[in-house]
Amino acid sequence: MGDVMKRMILLSLILISAVFLSGCAESDDAGVSDEVQVEVSADELYSEITSNGGYKKWALFPGTEELAPGAGVHGDKVSIYVSNDVSAAIDAGDTIMPFESVIVKEGFNSEDQLEELVVMYKVEGYDPDNNDWFWALYSPGGAVSAEGKVDGCINCHEKKASNDFIFSGA
Ligand code: HEC
Repeated sequence: MGDVMKRMILLSLILISAVFLSGCAESDDAGVSDEVQVEVSADELYSEITSNGGYKKWALFPGTEELAPGAGVHGDKVSIYVSNDVSAAIDAGDTIMPFESVIVKEGFNSEDQLEELVVMYKVEGYDPDNNDWFWALYSPGGAVSAEGKVDGCINCHEKKASNDFIFSGA
């Protein structure tokens, strides 16, 4: 092989590896997200909503009753409780709840036994694409079955995107 040929092969190898390396560097950059990660814990949330008498002392979702017939998704009967800021916002006619809003729903079977607890908790910056709700599903004793940006919850509740992902009162 002539010297010129060797040099050309060497040059092409250098060029190829340069392209390769810069390609890798680019994909590394793309992997670094500048999205803010807001951490929320379903266990902590459960302590919050059950301490000092807990959500049972809160108001019912305006216009709803205890053990009202449910749509069948969250139990035969449902009781929906709201934190103060939710009551105030709904009374004021708002369709977007303020940050720190909490909505707790008890789901019962036809014998009025509690079967599950579902909670929506609005946290600033948690999930801007879906109105910043943190979703949680608990057993009656408070064991966490699902939490976070739960696709199952969001996919159904987004039917009420125009009402801040809330079915009740919509
Ligand atoms: C297939 C649809 C569907 C899915 C999936 C679903 N929900 Fe619901 N959710 C409803 C409906 C309908 C209501 C209205 C009350 C009722 O009939 O039970 C509701 C009510 C609620 C409420 C009371 C506030 C409101 O919107 O009225 C909370 C809190 C809640 N769901 C949380 C959750 C969580 C957490 C999940 C996921 C673990 C979830 N939901 C999954 C349909 C759904």
